[in-house]
Amino acid sequence: MVAKSQIGRQKPAPVGVGRQQSSLARGANLDRFPALTGGFAGTRFLLTGFGVAEKFTVKRWWRKLKRYLGWRLKHPFAPYEDYYVHSVMKKIREGSGHPAIGSASRPVREHSELLEFLQKYGLQPTDVAVDYGCGSLRLGRAVIDYLEPGKFWGVDITDEFYKLGLEAMDPAWLQQKAPKLGVINPETLAKVKADRPRLIGSWHVCSKVPEARLDAYIGNIVSLLSPGSIALVHFPETAERRKLSGLAWASPRSLLEKVARSHAPKAEISFDALTDTEVDGIRQTLLVIRA
Ligand SMILES: C[S@@+](CC[C@H](N)C(=O)[O-])C[C@H]1O[C@@H](n2cnc3c(N)ncnc32)[C@H](O)[C@@H]1O
Repeated sequence: MVAKSQIGRQKPAPVGVGRQQSSLARGANLDRFPALTGGFAGTRFLLTGFGVAEKFTVKRWWRKLKRYLGWRLKHPFAPYEDYYVHSVMKKIREGSGHPAIGSASRPVREHSELLEFLQKYGLQPTDVAVDYGCGSLRLGRAVIDYLEPGKFWGVDITDEFYKLGLEAMDPAWLQQKAPKLGVINPETLAKVKADRPRLIGSWHVCSKVPEARLDAYIGNIVSLLSPGSIALVHFPETAERRKLSGLAWASPRSLLEKVARSHAPKAEISFDALTDTEVDGIRQTLLVIRA
């Protein structure tokens, strides 16, 4: 059964996040001001454009910037991850829904995608697996179903997202499968590590992490590895770090390899293709870390 303490009303307290200094106080790195980094579009407009498309881009950029700055003024010391949660929950509360979180969520490809890749890397029903950044369990659900009871861990920066997912699941099935869930913090990570997960998957999460937070994100994942275990980190791959939307970025594999290697110098690090397609210079790739 999902223990109440694991899905209870915890405040988001991501590891390496709560102790963070205010982004405003730290200053200059634009990656800490994600709403600002879309500003190159605005500059382009000022330099070149009178076209409708550019005007639209500037308007959108300005709207996003105002939204982010308004939030930042009210939460000068909050970690960036809280802004992500705030933005997603605002959309859901206002009824516009979110493609990945809550009742309107749908997989980009298949519900079974995470499970299939974990199986490709050796997952057996008796293993413990982690869905790191599980959201509303839209992909985790198939993994819960495959594993023996109590072998699934879903962790996220907030409990609000997985609670939305749990609401849509059959209580009897949940009770039988007994997934373990928790908000990412040192206590939760210690509990997950104690269960010695064999596979850790993190799907559609890396893209939501600003560059300044990649170290904490990948560091947490590496901290869960033990000899013989494997982490699969899905990310949109581009030649250069690129902003994809207000809350998403694509990365070059060299950047992720560098961060992963700094945390796991002895690990075997490789890459695998999630899909065969490349759209607008973006590939869907897996960073594979073998402890
Ligand atoms: C697009 S959703 C994907 C959720 C789930 N993995 C899926 O595919 O359905 C992105 C998820 O990443 C989580 N997230 C964002 N930043 C994170 C971080 N620094 N560490 C862990 N999870 C994070 C969000 O809370 C959210 O649940």
